[in-house]
Amino acid sequence: MKKFKLVTATAALLLLASHMLTACGSSADAGQSKLDQIKASGQLVLGTSADYPPYEFHVIENGQDTIVGFDIAIAQAVADHLGVELVVKDMDFSGLLPALSTGTVDMVIAGMSPTEERKQNVDFSDIYYQAEIGVLVKKDVLASYNDLASLDGKKIGAQQGSIQEEAALKVADAEVRSMPKVLDLVQELENGNIEALIVEKNVGDQLTGKYADLAVAPFSVPVSGSGSAIAIAKGNDEFVAEVNKVIADLLAKDQVSQFYVEADTLFSNQD
Ligand code: ARG
Repeated sequence: MKKFKLVTATAALLLLASHMLTACGSSADAGQSKLDQIKASGQLVLGTSADYPPYEFHVIENGQDTIVGFDIAIAQAVADHLGVELVVKDMDFSGLLPALSTGTVDMVIAGMSPTEERKQNVDFSDIYYQAEIGVLVKKDVLASYNDLASLDGKKIGAQQGSIQEEAALKVADAEVRSMPKVLDLVQELENGNIEALIVEKNVGDQLTGKYADLAVAPFSVPVSGSGSAIAIAKGNDEFVAEVNKVIADLLAKDQVSQFYVEADTLFSNQD
C-alpha cells in the first residue's frame, strides 16, 4: 500500500513537472520541434529591444505606434520564408535571452553580437551585419575625445546587459551608468548626467541626425564580440538552418543593405 502511494505520488509529480514544462513552452512540447511549433501556430514571435535605430525603433505609422528597422525587415523575411505571421515583442535588452530560454519568444533580433558567453546559453545564426563600437559625446567637447584613454575617469553610459556595458566597466576610473533603454541614455547625455555613451557606431551616426548637439568620437571601442546575429534557443538546429538560409539569400541579393537604407530614411524622416 505504502509502495503504491509512493509510485502514485511520483507519477503525479512527474506529470506536474511535464505540465509545467509545457506551460513554459519549452522544447518539451509534445516532442514537437520549435520549427514545427511555429508553423503549427502560424506565428513567429520575435523578441527585440526597439531602442536602437536603425536596427529597431518605434515610429508612428498611420497614427499607430509601430516597431520598424532593418532587423525587423530581416525578421519579416524569416516569417515570410516560414509562411507565418510575424509578432514583435518589445522588451529590455537584458530580458531578451531569458525570454528566449523560457520560450516567451521564438527568436531574438536586436543587433545582438554572438559572444562566447551568450553562446553558452543560446545558439546564433550566421552574422548578418558588422558594425564597430563607438562613443557618442556632446559636439562641443568632441575635440577632447581622441582615443580610448579619453574615456578614463568619465561618466559613461551603456545599455544594461550589452557588450558596451562590459566595455564601459573596463575603462579606468570611469563611473558607469547602465540603463535598460539606449534612448534614455541619450537623454542622460543630453542632460549632462553622463559624458559619453558607448553604442554601435552606426547607431551613434543615426542619432546625431536627430540630436544635432551630439557627435561620434573618432575611435573605436574594443568589445568581446563582433557583428549581429539572430539568437535562437539551444537545440533547434533545423530552425537555425532555415534562418541561415534566409540570411544567405538576403545577403546574396544585397537586401540587408536595402533594408538598412529604408530604416535609416524612416528614422531620419520622423519628427
Ligand atoms: N551589439 C550590442 C550587444 O550585443 C548591443 C546591442 C543593443 N541592441 C538593442 N536593440 N538595444 O550587446
